[in-house]
Amino acid sequence: MEIKNVFVVGSGLMGSGIAQVSAFAGYKVKMHDVKEEFTAKGMESIKSSLGKFLSKEKITREQHDAALSNLTTTTDLSDASDADLVVEAVFEKLEVKSEVFGKLDQICPQHTILATNTSAIPISSIAAATKRPDKVVGTHFFSPVPLMRLCEIIRGLQTSQETMDAAERWAQSVGKETVRVLKDHAGFIANRLYLPMGMEAARMLEAGVATPEDIDKAMRLGYNLPMGPLELADMTGIDVLANACMAIYNDTGDPKYYPPPLVHRMIASGLLGRKTGKGYYDYSSGKQESYWKV
Ligand SMILES: NC(=O)c1ccc[n+]([C@@H]2O[C@H](COP(=O)([O-])OP(=O)(O)OC[C@H]3O[C@@H](n4cnc5c(N)ncnc54)[C@H](O)[C@@H]3O)[C@@H](O)[C@H]2O)c1
Repeated sequence: MEIKNVFVVGSGLMGSGIAQVSAFAGYKVKMHDVKEEFTAKGMESIKSSLGKFLSKEKITREQHDAALSNLTTTTDLSDASDADLVVEAVFEKLEVKSEVFGKLDQICPQHTILATNTSAIPISSIAAATKRPDKVVGTHFFSPVPLMRLCEIIRGLQTSQETMDAAERWAQSVGKETVRVLKDHAGFIANRLYLPMGMEAARMLEAGVATPEDIDKAMRLGYNLPMGPLELADMTGIDVLANACMAIYNDTGDPKYYPPPLVHRMIASGLLGRKTGKGYYDYSSGKQESYWKV
């Protein structure tokens, strides 16, 4: 099945990134949100990102202009009626996603693939809102979408091989490397491995085993990771990680995902990482600085 028209639901951080890479790859893209101010914000961030690529000479003026000309915005979900592929990137709540998928199932032609960018909700639960679970698939991008190379392609219980293949080809065509997640298990591959490391680093800090600097340095130098788990947690947001961990914990009951008390205290104190100026490090001067006393 050939994909030409892509419809992205949700114009936030991930939706706008997915719309950007799709438009850049030559697809006709409609980007949707519930209010015009949200689609406008999404378009602003796409323009800003493409503008940076242009000024750094990573793309040409023609590519920049062509990408923008492939993009339109809408607040009307029924505009998905000519979509070959819909990618959903709305809030991480099953009720919200189920409502969107139920409506899309009515609006979209039979051949349309419905993909979700969920981080932790089972694909099969989202597919249950439709009468086409064989055409529902997970396409899990990483932030920031235009820069991060991975997209996990996730098979729900009833996703067909044809849908997996089409979703994978599309993700590759927008410039991503893909991995196939063959079972709809919480955390997929990357988060299932990364989240316990982030929580274990917090437990180590809580127990006074080492400073944040040394925990991160150990993983950077010992395992050649580009960032240590705590500085990465500050970048992602301590609350975002804790929510993702809780979703996996609730689904699996596996205690290694349960955030330790320190993480709950940090969230209650507004120490969420870069976005609030302080997390495991202090960013108030604009640089990453130490302040933690072990
Ligand atoms: N932020 C990340 O690093 C990241 C990484 C991978 C996956 N995800 C997943 O991607 C999804 C989106 O995350 P985000 O960070 O872009 O969130 P976000 O809050 O930046 O954007 C969500 C957007 O969805 C819109 N929205 C909400 N309900 C809607 C509806 N019914 N119809 C249309 N639009 C609606 C909101 O107005 C908002 O603009 C979530 O499922 C999240 O778990 C996020």
